[in-house]
Amino acid sequence: MEQDLIKIINISIYAPSGDNSQPWNFKIKNNSIFVYNISERDRSLYNFNNNAALIAIGGLLTNIRIAASHFNYTVEIKIINNNNLVAECNFKKDNINEDELFLYIKTRQTNRKPYKQKTPDKNIFKQLLIANIYEHLKIEIVTESNLITRIADACSVNEQIVLENKKLHDFLFNHITWTNKEDMIKKGFYIKTLELNGPQAVVFKLLKSWRINSFFNKIGISKFIAKENAKLYSESGAMIAITSNIIDNKIFIETGMLMQRLWLIATKHELYMQPLTGITFLKNTINSSDGIKEFNSEHLKLIESSYKKIKNIFNNNDEHINFIFRVGYAEKPTAGTRRLNAEIATG
Ligand SMILES: Cc1cc2nc3c(=O)[nH]c(=O)nc-3n(C[C@H](O)[C@H](O)[C@H](O)COP(=O)(O)O)c2cc1C
Repeated sequence: MEQDLIKIINISIYAPSGDNSQPWNFKIKNNSIFVYNISERDRSLYNFNNNAALIAIGGLLTNIRIAASHFNYTVEIKIINNNNLVAECNFKKDNINEDELFLYIKTRQTNRKPYKQKTPDKNIFKQLLIANIYEHLKIEIVTESNLITRIADACSVNEQIVLENKKLHDFLFNHITWTNKEDMIKKGFYIKTLELNGPQAVVFKLLKSWRINSFFNKIGISKFIAKENAKLYSESGAMIAITSNIIDNKIFIETGMLMQRLWLIATKHELYMQPLTGITFLKNTINSSDGIKEFNSEHLKLIESSYKKIKNIFNNNDEHINFIFRVGYAEKPTAGTRRLNAEIATG
């Protein structure tokens, strides 16, 4: 069984994670996979209280469940969430049908290209809605183009703040891999996955230096880039949010589990997705007294007001927005992200 569990892990790590930080490692013991969160992998201001990492690990757990079916196992996943141990997955050999979503674990990708403004078929939305088996989670879908544009505007404020806050800026630029060669050895995401055109790529590379970036900010580059991204994000078939009426660690893990299933179903229907989660995570960050200190008063106001706009459009006053995607039909991404070998302890 151990060899099968290793194979299951090596497929499941194709789950998405914030800035491709891959915040997980594994132990295999007595027919079980223990999944751990490695907090050091994502020390960003987006990952306050490990919220983003727990969503990523939730996605990985969905992959584990789906991949188990391919190898003829049923799996019981227990959320532990004690220190770094997030979950224990107990496997039993069984004669079960392979989950059809297995085919899409490795082909799912974040696509940052413009999407067609064509609304996906209602049947696809129906399939997304029935994938939600979680008591405290809701899926909200927005398809009206004026509302998509307003969500796009509010989400793109994140890009302005990233370029104006040194910690966010440094984290982003440290996670970009600038050449194919570097991408093969470093955890991160390849510059080509950002889908920048020639002049944009040249400017973006210059912004890596905080000094040059700060100079350009004085002449408005951060706001200009946010506006350009707002235009891009508004070119979408729909905006989808996963919301909940409570938030705790388990809810973030379940949000990730649901996020991944939605993403795989969308991939099956040849739809692409891009998470637009910056503002929602920054809102979680500034809800804590430590987090609030990391931002100036202008940014605190921007985070609050953008989050409020997003919440109002999704029309859910009592709910927290845990995750947002834009969705649509598009050309294939220019490049993909890599995974380094999974770290697996055995015995
Ligand atoms: C919790 C979480 C937050 C993310 N937030 C964003 C985001 O705000 N913008 C974005 O373009 N991609 C976002 N991503 C996508 C990751 O950058 C992407 O999954 C990672 O680079 C791996 O690439 P892949 O999805 O193509 O496999 C997020 C992913 C996760 C799991």
